[in-house]
Amino acid sequence: MAEVVLDKVTKVYPGEITAVRTMDLQIRDAEFIVLVGPSGCGKTTVLRMVAGLEEITDGTVRIGDRVVNDVPPKNRDIAMVFQNYALYPHMTVYKNMSFALKLRRLPKTEIEQRVRDVAEILGIGELLERKPKALSGGQRQRVAVGRAIVRQPKAFLFDEPLSNLDAKLRVEMRAELKSLHNRLKTTTIYVTHDQEEAMTLGERIVVMKDGQVQQVGTPLEVYGRPANLFVAGFVGSPPMNMLSGKVIRWDQGFYFDEGLAKILLPERLNDALRDHVGKDVIMGIRPEAMNLHAQGRFAGQKNILPLTVKVIEPLGEKMDLYCSSENHPQIIARVDAEAGLEPGQSIELHLDLSRVHIFEPGEPGRNLGLT
Ligand SMILES: Nc1ncnc2c1ncn2[C@@H]1O[C@H](COP(=O)(O)OP(=O)(O)O)[C@@H](O)[C@H]1O
Ligand SMILES: [Mg+2]
Repeated sequence: MAEVVLDKVTKVYPGEITAVRTMDLQIRDAEFIVLVGPSGCGKTTVLRMVAGLEEITDGTVRIGDRVVNDVPPKNRDIAMVFQNYALYPHMTVYKNMSFALKLRRLPKTEIEQRVRDVAEILGIGELLERKPKALSGGQRQRVAVGRAIVRQPKAFLFDEPLSNLDAKLRVEMRAELKSLHNRLKTTTIYVTHDQEEAMTLGERIVVMKDGQVQQVGTPLEVYGRPANLFVAGFVGSPPMNMLSGKVIRWDQGFYFDEGLAKILLPERLNDALRDHVGKDVIMGIRPEAMNLHAQGRFAGQKNILPLTVKVIEPLGEKMDLYCSSENHPQIIARVDAEAGLEPGQSIELHLDLSRVHIFEPGEPGRNLGLT
């Protein structure tokens, strides 16, 4: 096991395509870290550079105490699991899993012991004599993971390993990978474009966009204190509502003026807002930080947004209200389900002011609440 450290790592592909830009990242020994971001943001490129499958244009990658920039993949002692599993089709499951150990000339009895132990853990002990084509998608996935585990590498690299599975199996495998990590404690870098997968799997997550790291933090940090507009909009579903308006000073406090309503901004933002009086900003509020009633955290007076209900989506205990106003084409609120609401009806949503964010407009759209 080992820490993996990226120091100002850049990758430029032929044709001046900068896929990764001066990336700094320290992955701790035994950590499960998830790189997440939209397609094309450079996630696979990062993994391939760590694995040694792609040359590093600039910067260094260190695994343990060794800089590996010039170390060939087979000498890096890490195992990668690909999206398409990349199993050898003509080999049995047993041979797929034991192949790398055989190349390393491990004693036959040890190979057999390791393969059987890992197959047992993954629940594929009965499948060892089958070939990949006789396996379901979920079973192939387990074999691919098993093949990585038997090697007992310093680190695992996973590139969207669950994206070929159906939704139910994906959720199951997610939990399995997590409990596997709790057991093995092998440093893991996991790549996905799915923010929900990132939130549920990662001890920390790294949000990327256009080859650059936007934020690194625990799932709760990234969710609760997003660094900028991109992270705020990318993490969470339904996404954070973004309202444009201005900061005004009024009656001792700072307010967000969206045109129809004035929302009192929390005092913790005062210092940051002083320089923004009269300027355009974006107010971010998550769907679950609004309520139909002024109870508890939603109590108060200067926290009300008047809206019209367009669509009601029942979710069981909760419902999503798709609303609009003159100034905002769509605002989504996730509230406790209740009867008696109709599309077309006017409502007032009460905001939990402790969960209001103010961002600078444009790129990168810095969160003014973070110092
Ligand atoms: N071999 C390559 N040659 C040229 N450009 C590439 C190559 N591989 C990836 N890219 C480009 O680098 C960027 C990042 O790609 P990638 O790392 O695959 O992103 P992700 O895995 O996040 O979808 C994209 O713009 C992609 O088109
Ligand atoms: Mg990719």
